[in-house]
Amino acid sequence: MKLLRQESGYTCWLRCEACRDEHLLREYRSWCGGLQTIGSSEILKSAQKELLSGIAAITGQTPTSEASAQFLLLGVLGQSPELTVASAGLTEDGYLIRTVRRDGQSFILLAGKTDKGALYAAFHFLRLLQTGEPLGTLDIAENPKNRLRMINQWDNMDGSIERGYAGRSIFYENHDFIGDLDRIRDYARLLASTGINAIAINNVNVHRTETKLITSEWLPEVARVAGVFREYGIRTFLSINFAGPIEIGGLATADPLDGEVRCWWADRAADIYRHIPDFGGFLVKADSEFRPGPFTYGRDHADGANMLAEALQPYGGLVIWRCFVYNCLQDWRDRSTDRARAAYDHFTPLDGRFLDNVILQIKNGPMDFQVREPVSPLFGGMTKTNQMLELQITQEYTGQQKHLCYLVPQWKEVADFDTYAQGPGTTVADVASGEAFARPHGGFAAVSNIGDEASWTGHILAQANLYGFGRLAWNPALAAKDIAREWAAMTFGPDPTVVGTVCSMLLASWKIYENYTAPLGVGWMVNPGHHYGPNVDGYEYSKWGTYHFADCRGIGVDRTVRSGTGYTAQYRSPHAERYESLEECPDELLLFFHHVPYTHRLKSGKTVIQHIYDSHFDGAEQAAELVKIWESLRGKVDDERHRLVLERLKEQAEHAIEWRDVINTYFYRKSGIPDEQARTIY
Ligand code: GCU
Repeated sequence: MKLLRQESGYTCWLRCEACRDEHLLREYRSWCGGLQTIGSSEILKSAQKELLSGIAAITGQTPTSEASAQFLLLGVLGQSPELTVASAGLTEDGYLIRTVRRDGQSFILLAGKTDKGALYAAFHFLRLLQTGEPLGTLDIAENPKNRLRMINQWDNMDGSIERGYAGRSIFYENHDFIGDLDRIRDYARLLASTGINAIAINNVNVHRTETKLITSEWLPEVARVAGVFREYGIRTFLSINFAGPIEIGGLATADPLDGEVRCWWADRAADIYRHIPDFGGFLVKADSEFRPGPFTYGRDHADGANMLAEALQPYGGLVIWRCFVYNCLQDWRDRSTDRARAAYDHFTPLDGRFLDNVILQIKNGPMDFQVREPVSPLFGGMTKTNQMLELQITQEYTGQQKHLCYLVPQWKEVADFDTYAQGPGTTVADVASGEAFARPHGGFAAVSNIGDEASWTGHILAQANLYGFGRLAWNPALAAKDIAREWAAMTFGPDPTVVGTVCSMLLASWKIYENYTAPLGVGWMVNPGHHYGPNVDGYEYSKWGTYHFADCRGIGVDRTVRSGTGYTAQYRSPHAERYESLEECPDELLLFFHHVPYTHRLKSGKTVIQHIYDSHFDGAEQAAELVKIWESLRGKVDDERHRLVLERLKEQAEHAIEWRDVINTYFYRKSGIPDEQARTIY
């Protein structure tokens, strides 16, 4: 049996395992013996470095710069005769990978429209080698669908990470920046390899020390970090505190229409760009969950965002303004207020008022990253505003990286959702990219799932979500299973049994998690605060607006126009009618839109109560099955990573039983209706 190198998971999908297929190895060695790089920008140097070390690891041979019969040619299109090829249609970050045979020369062109494109070409080429692709007839042209492909770090300067499940921050400790930037550089490499080109490096909840990141006290440090990301084509953004003018500026107000306040922000912008000439811009959580914002001054979100946008505009900076705005001090007795309505109600009246360098960042669903919720109707609800999709890679509500939950299939459903904003075929992906309404800016953003643990993500299989987000932000048309396949092959090597098994586990995992947690789109049922583990009434009598309304007769939230909160009307036809109708509403979202008796029959033919019992028994069994499936890979995956994953899967299986029993028992006691199969319910 071959000996496997023990691994912590640190190198993730950039492991570049040695190629064991003799035939392929011969081919790879013959093409990759030489590497010529035209140009010497910082980003090209990164690309070259990645190729040299990646190829050395895969082929056991470091490419030389001497002339050879076959070689790789890395550079920017038009920079040399060999780099001058037809490239119509390539956009800013686009690239070509092409096998060229001419004038007695054979080379593989790795050419970007810009040096960033060349970097993406280099990573793509390494992916080809890692997934065992032949090189003889390559002809690849790639453009990203989205201009912004962004990661949001929810890191605080005390070293903690809001909703982080993989250790402490790799950026900060003890209210200071971490001195050694190597780990940040490795993070930049991982992100760039998937196509990420922007990052906000501090939490959207901006506390005291972080408020000062935009001052000369901290800007030199921010600039150091931005310098590392720049090597990999990633622009740095900061989350800002809307009350900054008061808290650190000594002003009496943060009113966005106040002259002094505007000057203060303009000064901050000037200072920032002195330190970081390619600074990306601000990410803003305002008037949301106790964060300050323009409402205090009787102003609206457009006033607030535009004030910041004007300050950044001279330097090409962006304001990314989050739409996660709702009343978080609701009275649970009040049935007329519906948190799901909030973002749409706040922002659609402002459509057309935002400056061109403002982007509204909209969470995928109207609530908050639940295992299942409908797509936010705000996408397509506005047509004259830049919009961006916000996803959550960190598994706040989806098992906190103790449970396996591959989220790419969920994100695909969101990206593919038809908003009907311009008749059929106006998907969320088209709206977010800006294409649908010819907007200048747009993209995908997601909250990161990494920390300082050796494996970055705690659960090694959760790396697939970070990888998958980047790939999807580049190309939302990719299939979830193809992304899983690439990731598994690069992370565990090309053994088809391993790749197939890992993929099947990933692809089943979202449904499994949904099965044993909150049923039929109703959401929550988690312990308040930390959000881990079952607690059906945890939020039922709270101020957060996240209710299920279960009683002895039935469950669900009536969001219809006919008898409920009227939320269904925020969708365009035909979704509005579909969700409004009890008959047509899809089963998996039934309790999000309707309050029904436990005896209501689903399209599946089951009653709601029997569905709850069955799915929870199934889910717990499926979680136990995952353990067995993974055990079958013993000896095929190195022991260390095998053990790390196995531990988590066992914990998941046990915790799934807890979920099953808490949920089933709750509903049995509420409804008094026994399980048709008379299984144990307590
Ligand atoms: C969720 C999450 C918070 C976070 C918030 C946000 O509510 O629990 O920790 O701050 O989302 O997106 O702003």
